[in-house]
Parts: sequence; C-alpha cells; structure tokens
Amino acid sequence: TDQPLVLGLETSCDETGVGIVRGETLLFDAIASSVDEHARFGGVVPEVASRAHLEAMVPTIERATREAGVRLSDLDAIAVTSGPGLAGALMVGVGAAKALSVALGIPLYGVNHLASHVAVDIVEHGPLPEPTLAMLVSGGHSSLLLVPDVTHDIRSLGSTIDDAAGEAFDKVARVLGLPFPGGPHIDRMAREGNRVAIDFPRGLTTGRDMERYRFDFSFSGLKTSVARWVQAREAAGEPVPVADVAASFQEAVTDVLTRKAVLACKEHGVANLQIGGGVAANSRLRAMAQERCDAAGITLRVPRPGLCTDNGAMVASLGAQMVLKGRAPSDLGLPADSSMPV
Ligand code: KG4
Ligand code: ZN
Repeated sequence: TDQPLVLGLETSCDETGVGIVRGETLLFDAIASSVDEHARFGGVVPEVASRAHLEAMVPTIERATREAGVRLSDLDAIAVTSGPGLAGALMVGVGAAKALSVALGIPLYGVNHLASHVAVDIVEHGPLPEPTLAMLVSGGHSSLLLVPDVTHDIRSLGSTIDDAAGEAFDKVARVLGLPFPGGPHIDRMAREGNRVAIDFPRGLTTGRDMERYRFDFSFSGLKTSVARWVQAREAAGEPVPVADVAASFQEAVTDVLTRKAVLACKEHGVANLQIGGGVAANSRLRAMAQERCDAAGITLRVPRPGLCTDNGAMVASLGAQMVLKGRAPSDLGLPADSSMPV
C-alpha cells in the first residue's frame, strides 16, 4: 500500500493521545488521561498535566504500536499538536515527536489542535467535503470555522467572547453540585428533566448583537443566570430541581450553537456541517443539530464521542492529510505555541 503510516501525538491539555492511521484509516487510538488527578481542583492544573504526559508518553506509544500491529520503524511520518494549548503540556508532545523524527529519520508535522478536531472526521466518515463548515465546541474553544482545506486554509467566522461551551457546562455542573468535568453529568441529568421548564437567556442572538456578533458566542451570562436562579431557590429554602435546571441550561446552549451553525452554513453556501470537540458528545446537541440540518438540507457529520474529545487519532489523521497533500514538514525548531491561531 502507498498510504502513509502516521503516528500522531496529542498533549495540549490533560489527555496523552497516541493515534496511528494509515492514510484515511484509523489503526489504533490509545489514550491516557490525567483527568482524575485534576478533579479535586475543579479544573486542569497545568503542572500536573505536564508531569502526567511525561510519565504516560512512552507507555502510550508502546500500547498504540502494539495494538495497531506496527513497528516504529514502519512509520512514514510523525505528527504532533504544536498549539494551541497548555504550554508545558504541549512541550512534552513536541519534544517526544522531535526525538522520534530524528531517531527514525522521518518527517515531522506540527499541526494545529483545532484543525485536528476537524480532520479526525476523515477517519470516521471519509474525505471531508471542501468546503466544510466546522463547529468546534470544547472546554477551551467554541468556534465556527469555514474550512476550504483542512491542511492549510481554515477561516474563523466567530468564536466565544467569554466562556467556552464546555466551560459553561463545567461551571454550571459545579453550581449544581455535580463532579468535574460536568458536561457528561449534565447530559445524563438532563434526560430526566424538562428542557422548557426555565427560559434561560440565549446570548448574542438578537437585534444589534446578531449583527455585530453574528457568529460569535457568549455563555458567561447564561452561567450567571443559572447560578442566580439556583441561589434564589436555595435562599427561599426550596429544593433545586436539578434535572430541570440541567435540561433547560443544556437547551439554551444547544439552541444557540445549532442556530448559529446552520445560519453560517446558509450564509456561506456550505452544505456540510461537522461538529467536533468534547461538547459534541452531548446527546441533545447531536439530536438538535440533526433535526435542524435535516430541515435545512445540510449534511451533518459528527464523529463518535471518543473521537470528539481530545485524542491522538485526530493528530495522526491531519498528519496523513499533510503527507497526502504534499505539505511541507516542520523543521526541528518547531515551537510549542500555546496561543496558536487556526
Ligand atoms: O475536547 P475536550 O475533551 O477537551 C478540550 O477542552 O479541548 O472537551 C472537554 C469538554 C469539557 O468541558 C466537558 O465537560 C465537555 O467537553 N463534555 C461535554 C460532554 N462530554 C464532554 N459537554 C456536554 N455534554 C457532554 N456529553
Ligand atoms: Zn480539544
């Protein structure tokens, strides 16, 4: 086969991800997470994440190659997340990737984390239509991206002006006394709740905001509104209907996200929407996006939940696209760029 065999390393946050792809086929995706070590702090602690990556890196690479049935000497290229993300965490992956590239004498591709979240869908659903409209919703990002070519042309249409969507889920979960990371807990609680019980605000969706911040998001007002609502209940000595609050909050977030994503597709004449990032695992977001895309004649692509959250397969997938499209590799001076734009 002439399909490139690529190993991808992801260490931008708290997951040590090692993925191996051959061309557009995923062979194995190994992941080690330090999420349990951060839970008691209620958020990711950068120093703890970096140390965990250093410990997990080699064992995770060994597991990935063993499970994929390949040897390091078979690899055609190494891809690594060079940004954006936590600086110290990124450095562990970038350092390991450089070492492998030199030791094996194969090219190194530094890739953008956001672009990788889009590229992972290639190993799930095949080649990406060009252009694709991508919505990236995670703990660190909420962006609408116009993607003519995932290897070198991604345009940001808008992003959050305050909290990321996942951050809002995590903060509201804390208000409701649910563990970190809160997204999956809210998703589960919401199934028992009434999503029209409380009419929480939809940020930046009306009047002048809709002109000035057309494809931007704001979730901080929503989070505050939920906190106030809960506090008022508690102050009145009344029980907090956690499931209803979770369902109504989740409804507000997914309503805004899907409304703006579909509008962006329509206004840019794009018939394909891809959703990625940890929040794309949300069951209500997936259902609402499917309904609204069906109504608008848009094809929706969402990878399986395990490929929506941070992983190595996404990096390997983008690396393989770089090889297939003949993009220039990075040199060994490749930096870790914590605030890298798309
Ligand atoms: O992409 P990701 O694994 O890491 C980055 O932030 O880059 O996303 C993690 C975020 C967390 O905020 C988590 O609460 C959220 O994704 N999340 C969810 C769900 N699963 C994970 N949010 C809502 N519903 C879910 N089912
Ligand atoms: Zn991510």
